[in-house]
Amino acid sequence: MRAIYPGSFDPATEGHLDIARRGAELFDELVVAIGVNPSKVGRFPVIDRVRVLTSALRDLSNVSVATFSGLLEMYCRDNDVDVIIRGIRNKMDLRHEVPMAHMNRHLSGIDSLFLPTSAKTGFISSTVVMGT
Ligand code: PNS
Repeated sequence: MRAIYPGSFDPATEGHLDIARRGAELFDELVVAIGVNPSKVGRFPVIDRVRVLTSALRDLSNVSVATFSGLLEMYCRDNDVDVIIRGIRNKMDLRHEVPMAHMNRHLSGIDSLFLPTSAKTGFISSTVVMGT
């Protein structure tokens, strides 16, 4: 099965890498996909985010790094993705993620799998890392 782990990864944190590594163990293939919103300026250029993820995950032969814009469910359909992975740190994440998972499943039939973050990375966020 092919899974996708979508996110902004702006920047990627140890928490993201932990979820990616664990996702790679669960599925035959994992695409770590950076969602690009052309109308939003990120903290880091997308090319740098791709480089960081590619380098950090280079030892995992079943992991690739990609970018997408537009709807995630369309990217999943176009790329034969079976499952969407998202990391969950706390109740706030869950409240945010459940409606997105419902919408993605409604639009494409693709289910989401929520992986709880590891205890040692559960407090990390890109925002906290950057202090902004
Ligand atoms: O790391 P983030 O910022 O939580 O990632 C959010 C992301 C990129 C996964 C989300 O914004 C997304 O799926 N964007 C694509 C647009 C889309 O499909 N929106 C509808 C979801 S219901």
